[in-house]
Amino acid sequence: MTQIDVSLGERSYPIHIGLDTMPVLQDVLSRLGARGAVAIVTDSNVAPLYGAAVDQLLGEAGLWPRLCVLQAGEENKRLDRIEWLCGEFLKAGLDRSSIVVALGGGVVGDVAGFAAAVYMRGIRFVQVPTTIVAQVDSSVGGKTGVNHPLAKNIIGSFHQPIAVVIDLTFLRSLPDRELRAGLAEVIKHGVIADAALFEYMEASAERLLAKDLAALEHPIRRSCEIKASIVAEDEREQGLRAILNYGHTFGHGFEAAGKYARFLHGEAVALGMHAAAALAQEIGLVDEAFVQRQRDCIEAYGLPVAWPEMPVDVVLEAMQHDKKAVGGALKFILADGMAHVIQRKDITEAQTRAALEAVREGRG
Ligand code: GLY
Repeated sequence: MTQIDVSLGERSYPIHIGLDTMPVLQDVLSRLGARGAVAIVTDSNVAPLYGAAVDQLLGEAGLWPRLCVLQAGEENKRLDRIEWLCGEFLKAGLDRSSIVVALGGGVVGDVAGFAAAVYMRGIRFVQVPTTIVAQVDSSVGGKTGVNHPLAKNIIGSFHQPIAVVIDLTFLRSLPDRELRAGLAEVIKHGVIADAALFEYMEASAERLLAKDLAALEHPIRRSCEIKASIVAEDEREQGLRAILNYGHTFGHGFEAAGKYARFLHGEAVALGMHAAAALAQEIGLVDEAFVQRQRDCIEAYGLPVAWPEMPVDVVLEAMQHDKKAVGGALKFILADGMAHVIQRKDITEAQTRAALEAVREGRG
């Protein structure tokens, strides 16, 4: 069992990583003084697999759990689900001292976390992420929220969990496509902050895609360490934290242009990283060898690096809605070498278009 601390003063919390960590969850809850009612928020994919076991575990710990099951899928990340959850919390008798357990992937964590952020003006919550994306990214750092029909993640709050409990054994039931998409975020952590992690990802595709849990522990732990240190320095994304959005400015455009059905988030990020590398080459920050190296790594995980039928204008338009557009200028995170990225707000539409054309044509 590994513990990583997210240092945020009085809002600091541990991330526990290991195999069969559910007794740790019991421990964490009892050390945090959990008593009485507790809500387990999960979804219709995870509930049949782990809902009853976690419910029983918390019951055995003397708590009164209420299982709140959301429909699975990004389209359920919406405001009316928050109202529904608050109703469930009320019916369960949750008060200001109660704890919410978010058991699931990124959508569950974001929705449950936001419901915990606003219920009674904020109650505590624990993240128990069951997917790679959630384990290496969304469960750490306190971003919670829901989508608006016009933009993703536009309604939300920074609300840090009081603990993150990562059980690698959950990954055994993760569909392959989700596994690959989640590993895109690990590749991202390598490119932005850790050349050795990137090399590990280059060398380990076979073992990681075979769900070798011993091989998965290292990149998950390293990703959590990287994310924890970035969040500790810049909790509210005033500067440094934006580097976690590498591949996301293009990625959000791809997701929207694909009507959120064409790509999983991690797939769009993989394609977005390739577009970002093409853009970095276009403006002279990196050479072709860098673009090719990143491309090879992305492809080794069966992730997309080309989208031949991409409507460039639709992607460009969708990118304008990105909430990270500041004062009308899009902010791009671009590599200028391995494990080194910079932020640029001076990229022209022509340069953005050229990078998108490269991705459409499978160049780079
Ligand atoms: N997923 C990016 C962040 O948490 O800032």
